[in-house]
Amino acid sequence: MKITSDETEQLLKSVTKPLTDWYSSAARDLPWRIPAGSNVRPDPYHIWISEIMLQQTRVETVKDYYRRFLNRLPDIKSLAQVPTDELMKLWQGLGYYSRANNLKRAAIMIMDVYQGIFPDTYEEIIKLPGIGEYTAGAIASIAFGQPVPAIDGNVYRIYTRLCADDSDITRTPFKRSLRQQLLSVIPSGDPGSYNQAWMDLGASICLPAKTPLCDQCPLSEHCLAHLHNSCGIYPMKPPKKKRRIEEKTIFVLEYHGKYLLQKRPPKGLLAGLWEFPAQEGFVSIEQIKELLAHWDTSAGEIELLGKGKHIFSHIEWHMMGYLIHLDQMPALTLSEESVWITAQKMQKEYSIPSALRLYYSKITDALS
Ligand code: ADE
Repeated sequence: MKITSDETEQLLKSVTKPLTDWYSSAARDLPWRIPAGSNVRPDPYHIWISEIMLQQTRVETVKDYYRRFLNRLPDIKSLAQVPTDELMKLWQGLGYYSRANNLKRAAIMIMDVYQGIFPDTYEEIIKLPGIGEYTAGAIASIAFGQPVPAIDGNVYRIYTRLCADDSDITRTPFKRSLRQQLLSVIPSGDPGSYNQAWMDLGASICLPAKTPLCDQCPLSEHCLAHLHNSCGIYPMKPPKKKRRIEEKTIFVLEYHGKYLLQKRPPKGLLAGLWEFPAQEGFVSIEQIKELLAHWDTSAGEIELLGKGKHIFSHIEWHMMGYLIHLDQMPALTLSEESVWITAQKMQKEYSIPSALRLYYSKITDALS
């Protein structure tokens, strides 16, 4: 049975102090954070970049990318002006590249509409490209002290355990009511720390599935799921849809020390990144030879690079890769933007998705 809305509010109020006390001693030391107790506000540009990187990527991975990104693009103006290929190179390996494109679009918009000054309200921030409710809440609260929640998977998990709430967390009425509840209890003094306390508790103690560390949790004596020994069942959500599987053969074509790359279309999965030519399905060596003949060329040698698999949110790529040393320049129908380049140039200047790292590294590893 669910507790009432008044009881929920009481419960949320009663955990504010233990949660924020815990955070003041246990907060993780992260490069985009200002040390606890400091009264300077963090730079909204720093918070924005970190929050976008953290949207789909683990904290440990983000740290180095974040430092490198800020070194090269220290402010909104430099981001608005960076060539897209260079931006993609800075993002290479983080995945979900539309995040980087949206960052640049938003930076241009901030230069044009806000004279280069990051907007300071939730309502304006959420209108920027690539920023949804969670990220707008995180930036508005951490960088500007606005008392708005930042509700992510951590908050869903902690909240549903705390209140033993078995609602389907993917449903809009649940999301709306949680937002309202948090809006009514969020402390106006330091909402940024309050929101980050939820994030850190979720990352270090109230862990997913059956592994929460309840004996170290500052909220355990208030937590209804802990009381009923049922943490493992929260949060409730419908089973995930199966991902679509795409099988493909990857051709790393080499001719006179140069390799063929082509640019992906400007929209959709891995938009604007560079890749090796590929063919749908798994192609046998015999079929490869036929294809090469069709392209008016032949292979001196065909090396099997092996199987690869990459999981995106809705698709899985199952790949087989070959390194093909060509005897003649092939007569391929290529996409508009394609290049024959050396491994050195590929490594320095071209952003290739992590999905193809296995094949890409076979030719660039020899350089180091
Ligand atoms: N995950 C997303 N935003 C975060 C933040 N500001 N601190 C820690 N983890 C996060």
